[in-house]
Amino acid sequence: MKTIVITGGTDGMGAALARHFLTAGDRVVVVGRSRGKFEALVSGVAGGDPSATTRAEFLAADLSSLGDGRRVVDHLATHHQHIDALILAASYIRQRRQVTTEGHEASWVLFFLSKYLLVTGLAPLLRAAGRPVVINTAVPGAPADAIAFDDPGMADGFTFRRSNAQQRRANELLGIVATTDNPNLAYVTWGPARLVRSSFAGEVGTAMKVAAVVLAPLLGQRPERAVRPLVHLVDDPTPGRAAYRGAAERSLTVGDHDEDEAVRLVAMVEEHL
Ligand SMILES: NC(=O)c1ccc[n+]([C@@H]2O[C@H](COP(=O)([O-])OP(=O)(O)OC[C@H]3O[C@@H](n4cnc5c(N)ncnc54)[C@H](OP(=O)(O)O)[C@@H]3O)[C@@H](O)[C@H]2O)c1
Repeated sequence: MKTIVITGGTDGMGAALARHFLTAGDRVVVVGRSRGKFEALVSGVAGGDPSATTRAEFLAADLSSLGDGRRVVDHLATHHQHIDALILAASYIRQRRQVTTEGHEASWVLFFLSKYLLVTGLAPLLRAAGRPVVINTAVPGAPADAIAFDDPGMADGFTFRRSNAQQRRANELLGIVATTDNPNLAYVTWGPARLVRSSFAGEVGTAMKVAAVVLAPLLGQRPERAVRPLVHLVDDPTPGRAAYRGAAERSLTVGDHDEDEAVRLVAMVEEHL
């Protein structure tokens, strides 16, 4: 039986994937904040297959906390022998800079540092799987100079656009680190082909609220539809790095200095963890 770990598996595309893999008979570990949403999701699947309740596990965690991220890694390492797929889909959009009680910028932690902890901390469990895959829902194609190495928390000039580009670039570089460590691993950075009718969790401004409330129901894809290409990438992973929008493969952002930047990123992150 495959073990699939899904952050943000209580809503939106993460929940659509959790429902799919539970229905397919896999073991699914959902990492998220809302136990109520998790229980509703499992009882929906268990109506057709009662075994879903024994194959579904909920790990309550706030992934904008590094402490919670470390606790998730420790729990999984203690209770699981292997992880076949790690799907990173937790999302909480902040259009303003926010500092956590641990002293870090919240979006940088949620969208990158906690992913770094999971991908590196769970490397032994991914290595123990036959054909492991990491799906990182970070839209590929960020500019090569997007990381503020001297000020990743962006105390000096946070904007949503800068913060978003930084985490996307960092998540692409994380693929170099992960696949160097484990050549058997498939590491995919992925974004949907178009707007998805998800919960748009976050503290969003008027423009995004309009998109979420008005445009998404009219123009957006249903999460179940949007994640179909991901199901295929999990079921039949190809070792190495790849980038996708929907079902269309995109060329990886390859700069002359990507490997060096990945090393620099690890050094910066390890200094602050
Ligand atoms: N929707 C789109 O059109 C779109 C476009 C481009 C990229 N994406 C990316 O696709 C991924 C999935 O997005 P979505 O729109 O499907 O998500 P969503 O519906 O907004 O759901 C967000 C999920 O993240 C969880 N979450 C939020 N804050 C968290 C925290 N601090 N710790 C742990 N979990 C937390 C939520 O859990 P609770 O509900 O339990 O709080 C929920 O399960 C994200 O990476 C997003 O950036 C989406």
